[in-house]
Amino acid sequence: MTPLAQPLINAITAPTRGVERLNLSHFRCYEIFSVSLDLTPVVLTGPNGAGKTNLLEALSFLIPGRGLRRARLSDVKQQGSDAPWVVSAQLKDEETKIQIGTGLDPDRPESEKRLTKINGEKAKNQSSLAEWVSMVWLTPQMDRLFLEGAQGRRKFLDRIVYGFDAAHAQRLSRYEKALKERTLLLKQGRMDPHWLEGLEETLVNDGIAITVARREVVGQLLMVLRQQEATFPRAELELKGDIETLLEAHSIYECEEKMRTLLAQSRDQDRLIGRCSRGPHKSDLFAIYPEKNQAAALCSTGEQKAMLLSIVMASATLLSVRTGAIPLLLLDEVVAHLDKRRRTALFDAIIKLKMQTWLTGTDVSLFEELQGNAQFLSLKEARLVSKT
Ligand SMILES: Nc1ncnc2c1ncn2[C@@H]1O[C@H](COP(=O)(O)OP(=O)(O)OP(=O)(O)O)[C@@H](O)[C@H]1O
Ligand SMILES: [Mg+2]
Repeated sequence: MTPLAQPLINAITAPTRGVERLNLSHFRCYEIFSVSLDLTPVVLTGPNGAGKTNLLEALSFLIPGRGLRRARLSDVKQQGSDAPWVVSAQLKDEETKIQIGTGLDPDRPESEKRLTKINGEKAKNQSSLAEWVSMVWLTPQMDRLFLEGAQGRRKFLDRIVYGFDAAHAQRLSRYEKALKERTLLLKQGRMDPHWLEGLEETLVNDGIAITVARREVVGQLLMVLRQQEATFPRAELELKGDIETLLEAHSIYECEEKMRTLLAQSRDQDRLIGRCSRGPHKSDLFAIYPEKNQAAALCSTGEQKAMLLSIVMASATLLSVRTGAIPLLLLDEVVAHLDKRRRTALFDAIIKLKMQTWLTGTDVSLFEELQGNAQFLSLKEARLVSKT
């Protein structure tokens, strides 16, 4: 065995939680697909268009939300077929087996709502998935995260927070609903004080809880990032916004009072501009490349990618130790951009992680160092025959 092909770490460290079986039907390019797995990293290889990202996207529907492409549910179904798409997975959580099925509701295909079953029982809504599975991913579309608007960075952070706090998604959706309703009332000139106060109370309570949860996760990410080996440019993170500034200097009770006053005072201004000018929907996640003391947006493409990767790996590290749900890490087309030293460091980190990691790439030779510690799936073959 050449030193390159030698296992990095003995396979004994394999995680005890992850996906054991994945079945897809009428999902994008897959009419029917089925594969059995162990819990070691999964390397998906195949030419462009083989269905690698589609498979990661299928996994991303095991948590609440619209998946890693943020697609409309109706676009996910196999083109040319009227059958609703279904993703079903058998997962292992230490000794327990969990069965999750999710897909387009056949009775309401236009609803953009998923029908989800957990252990055979219909779930009230898809947010209950967060109690069972947590996930973090990195895709090529995220390469521009630091260059584009703050909304993408907030969503990126919120997805990480969902992994630790299943209630975060509900708080956000309540907050956004109240925000829309308040903006509409103000636009219509319906200045009913009781109605507005009620909505603003939701904005205060959920807005502060959202900020506290985000700040806590950013603080923990920072701690992990500072301990990471320096193979990847580390990122210094900071969450900035009105509520964040208030929380620096005041108790939660004082912040509530101040936010209540701010919202009441800004009604006229918000009416004129047609949106709410203060709150966690305006916060931004800043990343600094400490070695150069440079904002991420000014860093080179490769530096930005490496910073993102270190944030994602730090999130994965946190998830692997902190969450009660089964953690999964999805890395789409990550290794092709890394030099050999960084690739080795990444594989080493993945093997040490106590979570099942899914990697994709067109060239299997890039994953040679994972031989013996991962399972390899060539998608050209896998689409035709299941592994078992
Ligand atoms: N709704 C759909 N129905 C049928 N096929 C689809 C649907 N959506 C996407 N596809 C096809 O699925 C194929 C696989 O796409 P996917 O993005 O998974 O490829 P990939 O293996 O990740 O390729 P690359 O290496 O280029 O990233 C593509 O040819 C795409 O056109
Ligand atoms: Mg792809």
